[in-house]
Amino acid sequence: MEKISRPIVKKDHEMKASGKSVYVGDYTEAKNGEKILTGKILYGTAARAKILSVCVPPLPDGYFYVDADDVPGDNNVNIVLDDMPVFCRGTVEFIGQAIGMVAGPDEKEVRRILSEIRVEYEELEPVLDIRKSETAFFDYHYGHGDVDRAFEEADRVYEEEFSTGYQEQAYLEPQGMMAEPEPDGGMYVHGSLQCAYYVKGAVDRVLGYQDKEHGTHVFQDVTGGAFGGKEAFPSILGSQVAVAAYKAKAPVRVIFDRREDMEYTSKRHPSKSRYKMAVKDGKVTALECDVLFNAGAYSTLSAVVLQRGVIAAPGVYNVPNLRVRGRAMKTNTSPCGAYRGFGAPQTFFAMEMMMNHVAKDLGKDPLTFKMEHMAAQGDATSTCGKYHFCVPLAEMIRKIDEASGFQKKHREYDRKQTGRFRRGIGLSLCFHGAGFTGSGERDIIKAVAKLHKYADGTVEILASNGEIGQGLRTTFPKIVAQELDLPLEKVYYNHPDTARVPDSGPTVASRSLMTVGELLRRAAIRLKKEWKDGQEQEVEEHYKEPDFMIPFSLEKFEGDAYPTYAWSVSVIEVEIDTCTGCAQILGAYGCFDVGTPVDENIVLGQMEGGFLQGIGYSAMEQMDYDGKGRIRNNSYSDYLIPTAMDVPKLQAILHVEKYPYGPYGAKGAGELPLVGAPPAYLEAVEQALGNPFRLHHIPFTAEETLMKLREEVR
Ligand code: MOS
Repeated sequence: MEKISRPIVKKDHEMKASGKSVYVGDYTEAKNGEKILTGKILYGTAARAKILSVCVPPLPDGYFYVDADDVPGDNNVNIVLDDMPVFCRGTVEFIGQAIGMVAGPDEKEVRRILSEIRVEYEELEPVLDIRKSETAFFDYHYGHGDVDRAFEEADRVYEEEFSTGYQEQAYLEPQGMMAEPEPDGGMYVHGSLQCAYYVKGAVDRVLGYQDKEHGTHVFQDVTGGAFGGKEAFPSILGSQVAVAAYKAKAPVRVIFDRREDMEYTSKRHPSKSRYKMAVKDGKVTALECDVLFNAGAYSTLSAVVLQRGVIAAPGVYNVPNLRVRGRAMKTNTSPCGAYRGFGAPQTFFAMEMMMNHVAKDLGKDPLTFKMEHMAAQGDATSTCGKYHFCVPLAEMIRKIDEASGFQKKHREYDRKQTGRFRRGIGLSLCFHGAGFTGSGERDIIKAVAKLHKYADGTVEILASNGEIGQGLRTTFPKIVAQELDLPLEKVYYNHPDTARVPDSGPTVASRSLMTVGELLRRAAIRLKKEWKDGQEQEVEEHYKEPDFMIPFSLEKFEGDAYPTYAWSVSVIEVEIDTCTGCAQILGAYGCFDVGTPVDENIVLGQMEGGFLQGIGYSAMEQMDYDGKGRIRNNSYSDYLIPTAMDVPKLQAILHVEKYPYGPYGAKGAGELPLVGAPPAYLEAVEQALGNPFRLHHIPFTAEETLMKLREEVR
């Protein structure tokens, strides 16, 4: 094992494990000693309606009602576009849209006032079905080859539709943000968040601060998990508390309860994907994918989520003729957002299941069929970029087969099973496009990272990436300490404060470690060369796109969407109880190539946790809205996620192919294990149910297993 991979105790372990860490909900007073006002949001209760009137009862002294009229700047939250109002403008577009906020010193009184506000609506017909929506926020097309001709000349053409459901991030700490007016007229905004500079950009615009000298500065408090769920939402909630604090001229904090968080904040996009595949002489000759994501009422992050989704549409395979269309459709529901995998789990699921089904129909073994189409180093990617580095799937399949006995079990379980307990095993091949999608890193983010050395020889890392449980407060210092040959105690990384750190971009897509980590490594190499004892010094590094890349163009949807890829082979083995429908997972095995692990324990923790989240997504996490557009599952008693009791025998094997432009060869890690779980799980369930069945959606629950078995009896 390389030195950098050797596990160490996480820098924030003691504070978190002992309960000493201060989360945004823990502050007893504001920075200046003032009492914090509690804010509660007034939510719209109709999925689509004009607001005729809002009647607020008389407010006691020290209590405030805040709405769109109080926004000093632009009443739009800057995310990718600026279409989501901070507080609604005359109409509500989903159940849970913020109309206003009540803030004041006593929470009970705030709740009383809120309950006495009367809102009069003129209800309109909501759009709840993505197939009926007439608004595509984003519509991407790309492809290559002569698809029509390949379909004409095909021996067989297959067409299937796949769907995936919502997934709620279910972080331990719900959303929470706080804003404190500063003496200089600026605003201090902090809370549970991933991307400090995103929040700053949004709040500056909302408060009309863009051109002023003072502005917003944003600090990330200790954050109890995020998984993508705190990528964009804190920009919305941060803007709302900032407007309230601006009006009240006092600190205001909003902490969500679990029901608010589940119902009204961003979740993974539900999807419907139609896949059409041409086969000639036993080989896939063409693929057409039509991918629909349910974006919800505003566009938020859907552009980028959809890009990642459609780029992954043909999976890890070479498809000579390809046509992909992807649309993010508007519906009158909570806006969806980022969640570990960011669009890719939806399309990988469709492609892997499609390959299984077509292979079975051709009388072939699915894994053999997949291996016949797998991409290799030097091959073109879906967007006519290139797999510049090693594609180690074949070797990883060998490793996973050895660990799981996949091939032998797969043959065995393929025989007709008739008993009460029936077994199946599934295998998926996936990648994670490492780093930000497309040209974002080069054209938009333009990351900067710094090292500040103090006279006493300690070194502080200055970057804007947030510790959200993935270990950055440990891995960043590990990299810098190793290059500087310093003990780890001498190098530290605090939570980012935009008043002190440069913009090194958002905490997303595994770009923090791979991209910013490499900037820090280079900064450390320079600092070592220039090191002067007893002096304060600073070095700064700027991102530059590696020369080998084929520049990505979003207009043409062409080029290297990612510099490199992390790879996974996932196997899940299940046993179905035909009396209860319950599927017990006998084993879950993942072989993951994330490049060099910068701390093996941290990476293994990510692999295990992500795999389990993927199993939850596949098998039990069910969330949907009713005919009025209201989310029906808003607590852990009706939205089930895996608990400690559901952790199966889980084996994560690391395979290392180094990425020469990542620190010590590191690529991306966090998303990978989640993406591979759904197709592996569903293939296993499909096999256990028996050959005539073809499954097309997740989550696939025990109830549905029973319904399928009933079909068999008929
Ligand atoms: Mo992450 S899902 O890239 O915020």
